[in-house]
Amino acid sequence: MDKIEAVQSEALQAIQEAGSLEALQAVRNTYLSKKGSIQALMTQMKSLPKEEKPAFGQKVNVCKQEVTQALEKRQAELAKLAIVARMEEEKIDITLPGDRLKIGTTHPLMMIQQEIEDLFLGMGYKIAEGPEVEQDYYNFELANIPKDHPARDMQDTFYIDPNTLLRTHTTAMQMRELEKAKGQTPIKLICPGKVYRRDDDDATHSHQFMQTEGLVVGEHITLADLKGTLEFMANKVFGEGRKIRFRPSYFPFTEPSVEVDVSCPFCNGKGCSVCKGSGWIEILGAGMVHPHVLEMNGFDSEKCSGFAFGVGIERVAMLKYGIDDIRNFYTNDIRFLETFDHFD
Ligand code: DAH
Repeated sequence: MDKIEAVQSEALQAIQEAGSLEALQAVRNTYLSKKGSIQALMTQMKSLPKEEKPAFGQKVNVCKQEVTQALEKRQAELAKLAIVARMEEEKIDITLPGDRLKIGTTHPLMMIQQEIEDLFLGMGYKIAEGPEVEQDYYNFELANIPKDHPARDMQDTFYIDPNTLLRTHTTAMQMRELEKAKGQTPIKLICPGKVYRRDDDDATHSHQFMQTEGLVVGEHITLADLKGTLEFMANKVFGEGRKIRFRPSYFPFTEPSVEVDVSCPFCNGKGCSVCKGSGWIEILGAGMVHPHVLEMNGFDSEKCSGFAFGVGIERVAMLKYGIDDIRNFYTNDIRFLETFDHFD
């Protein structure tokens, strides 16, 4: 009987001292398995006198019960501790600073293009598109620049074959739209897009850049309409108070042709380093659509007239945002692009 008590108290102590589920399993093996100490007590019972067996057997059973219960209790405790330890180990410090995600912004050239599109859409213009790989016919011939015409030298061209080229100006789309209209007026549209020239890249030149073409054809369209339209655009893009000035120029597809200056938005026309003291900055080319261009495209130039203009998006963006090197637009340096965050 003393031995049973000794085994029981030894087992209960071992259970309490087991510090892990593995250690507890070892204790279970020592005392409760078929070859364990408690089973050994049962075996011993066989050699006892008959009258002692019931009391002995009962005591061994109680011992087995107590040890089993204690084991289960300790097992639950240890399992709980194991979870707590694991949670401690895998804890996430939500106060640590995270990785900053770089979120893109609208490209400055896109901002200008969208601004121009919005203001012309607001005046009832449509937006037209056309191919960048263009036929010589639309880029030059329909624009009144026949083969071998000296005006072709104004725009150094990337030819793909003698009749196919990368468009040198959005005026190619103007010609496509005029042809498509089949002499029907009114026409009111803008054509934004990329254009290409065989220029050496430097701070103010790029072999690829963006333009937006404007075209209005109808009855009684005059140079005054052109002037009012461009003045409206200049005020929207560069801020209220801008004035417009026309200087005579030459483009084969317009007659008369003008270069358009805007009063300098930096000094309000007084003269500064940006406008080189003149108070004016050249922003685009424009004119009245040449009667010959209208006729070639099936319009009666006695009955209708039109104006057109072509504005360089990079030039406007450089002026508006004070950028001095056109190459900044194309190198995709995030430090440059990020500076436009607040304009978006
Ligand atoms: N196509 C001209 C250029 O790229 C710009 C231009 C001038 C377009 C006069 C026009 C215009 O529509 O009427 O230099």
